[in-house]
Amino acid sequence: EKIPLNLKVNNKPYVLKVEPRVTLLDLLREQLHLTGTKKGCDHGQCGACTVHVDGERVNSCLSLAVMNEGKSITTIEGLAKGDELHPMQAAFIKHDGFQCGYCTPGQIMSGIACIREGHANSKEEIREYMSGNICRCGAYPNIVDAIQEVKE
Ligand code: FES
Repeated sequence: EKIPLNLKVNNKPYVLKVEPRVTLLDLLREQLHLTGTKKGCDHGQCGACTVHVDGERVNSCLSLAVMNEGKSITTIEGLAKGDELHPMQAAFIKHDGFQCGYCTPGQIMSGIACIREGHANSKEEIREYMSGNICRCGAYPNIVDAIQEVKE
């Protein structure tokens, strides 16, 4: 049986009915068609599905959609203001923080949280905070540079 769910995604309010077993990730991708958030492992190991829930970093594959009643979700689609990229998006482009791009939305959401939570004071600290976001292409040094620049 479907359960009513009210939440905001990228500042837009939604009134939904969802199956209790649906993850926040699948809700975003399949029900709301916000496919910027990626599914890598689907069990909390890769970070591709990272979003912000009330400003906090969350692996959306590990969160049941129905547990997000009343919450405010931000996805990669919610970062730019019109044509103006979020500074973290611009920094990833400038520093070549991606190759294939699959992990990039999650990296960017984590990078923003890294600074917001005060864990971007050194390359070491950034690397540690970002260790849950896997990049198969190995763009790590450029990702760290991008985050460090936005921090400054
Ligand atoms: Fe969620 Fe990999 S898809 S952590």
